[in-house]
Amino acid sequence: MKRIDLIQDTINNNDVDQLVNWLKGYPRLTKGPMTLEFENKFANWIGSEYAVFVNSGSSANLLMVYALKHAGLLKNNKFCVPSLCWATDLAPVLQFDLEPVLVDCNLENLSVDLEHLEKVFKEESPAALILVSVLGLSPDMDAVIDLCEKYEVVLLEDNCESQGTSYKGKRLGNFGLMSSFSTYFGHTMSTIEGGMITTNDSDMYNLLLQLRSHGWDRDLSPQRQSELREEWGISDFSALYSFYVPGFNVRSTDLQAFIGVGQLDKVDHSIQKRYENYLYYKEKLSGKIWFPNELQESFTANFAIPVILDDEGKKMSLVKELEENNIACRPLISGSMGTQPFYKKLYGENKLPNCEVVDSRGIYVPNHPLLQQEDIDRICEIILNNV
Ligand SMILES: Cc1ncc(COP(=O)(O)O)c(C=O)c1O
Repeated sequence: MKRIDLIQDTINNNDVDQLVNWLKGYPRLTKGPMTLEFENKFANWIGSEYAVFVNSGSSANLLMVYALKHAGLLKNNKFCVPSLCWATDLAPVLQFDLEPVLVDCNLENLSVDLEHLEKVFKEESPAALILVSVLGLSPDMDAVIDLCEKYEVVLLEDNCESQGTSYKGKRLGNFGLMSSFSTYFGHTMSTIEGGMITTNDSDMYNLLLQLRSHGWDRDLSPQRQSELREEWGISDFSALYSFYVPGFNVRSTDLQAFIGVGQLDKVDHSIQKRYENYLYYKEKLSGKIWFPNELQESFTANFAIPVILDDEGKKMSLVKELEENNIACRPLISGSMGTQPFYKKLYGENKLPNCEVVDSRGIYVPNHPLLQQEDIDRICEIILNNV
């Protein structure tokens, strides 16, 4: 029986051949001009002013959270994280000694529940929120931004699952102070491993460039370099090993960037193909079983289909039937961070009602650009057997 995977050929033979040809020109391999080209093209594609290429979406989250802390933009230690998120949305909050405040999800687009978000903002007065867009579904950006403005909360976006999603005609990646993306193998486009941060804020951009590479000034503009060197009395020679902020090394390479540039050329096509698949899934499932209710004013760059069953027993029998039929599936991302071992160990269990539903009854099934209608028919038949 044909295997249906979550992803197929994101980096195909043609991409590998192009990479081999490029390598035959013996280019620079570490971060260099190709990284800048990729960053410029990515920023253009998102519509943002700046983009910073790093080695994973998780590193992008790490830098964004640390950048806020380092820049003194957090009014206190409290940091809001949706309980339905990825482990590395929560992890940096803990790693940098901030206090996580979990927010429940909604059961329409799986992003934050707005009522719960407002309650948490009112009661806890957190400094920041990292908003996660789940599986390409857009959150209600106007409502989230209104709440962030009302309660003076800095907004970050995690779009690692939502590259290409737009809200009222504007791509995600332009709403928060900074936004993360992942170019891991299974995501919208791939550099094997990789991540990107977009921002429209030049101070954040300059800080991210330094934090990405040891804290030095090498990636800054010549003008910014001379300002810093003058301020600290550093010669051009000493500047090679001078460090201005406590940095990391989460760079990627020009080799990854070369793959990324090629991927950007075909990403619109693959997003469109996945959208057509999404609509076909919707036609087959909507009204018969829970299906996302995406916002009218959004475009969904979906990369996997969330499925929520009526109870846990039905979920497990669906998982079993999919496995028997050689079809890949996964839990619906973390389900609920408040019930994950590393959270529980520190703070005890935090069960939130909608996340409980997702955690106990949710999975996701494949939606990749090479999926055929007959594959979707096969998957939907199995899903509907378990309603
Ligand atoms: C919402 C979200 N954020 C962050 C990440 C981390 O991305 P990466 O795997 O590139 O570290 C993922 C990974 O799947 C994710 O789903």
